[in-house]
Amino acid sequence: MKDLIWDRTLSVDVPEIDEDHRRLLDLFNILNHAVAEGDAQEYVEAVMEELVSCTVWHFRHEERLMLKYRYDGVKEHKAEHEELIASAKALQQKLLDAGKPVVSDDLHFLEHWLTGHILGTDKDLGSYLGDVM
Ligand SMILES: [Fe+2]
Ligand SMILES: [Fe+2]
Repeated sequence: MKDLIWDRTLSVDVPEIDEDHRRLLDLFNILNHAVAEGDAQEYVEAVMEELVSCTVWHFRHEERLMLKYRYDGVKEHKAEHEELIASAKALQQKLLDAGKPVVSDDLHFLEHWLTGHILGTDKDLGSYLGDVM
């Protein structure tokens, strides 16, 4: 599958959040390449782990900003984060348990997992923070 390319449509207009999102896109692309090039399972698993860990770190970063700037939607946004973490960990666990490689369906799932939240919930947060930061 094609790499995810960063462009203005993905920007939430908050530089420190955009920076995190770009990093997550980079990790997705590293995973995509690892799968396409048939890299060792152990390496692919390490990239998945890095992607999940960085996502957890990034979500905590956004949640801190929401608290600092008293964002009303913090509860709902945080709940969405928890669901996203749970679904990514479930995929990771399924791959680990079965010793199965990451396949194209998994990459499509992760693509939507990554961009869906940015384009919806994070954009709402970004427009709020843009006014108060
Ligand atoms: Fe985000
Ligand atoms: Fe978020």
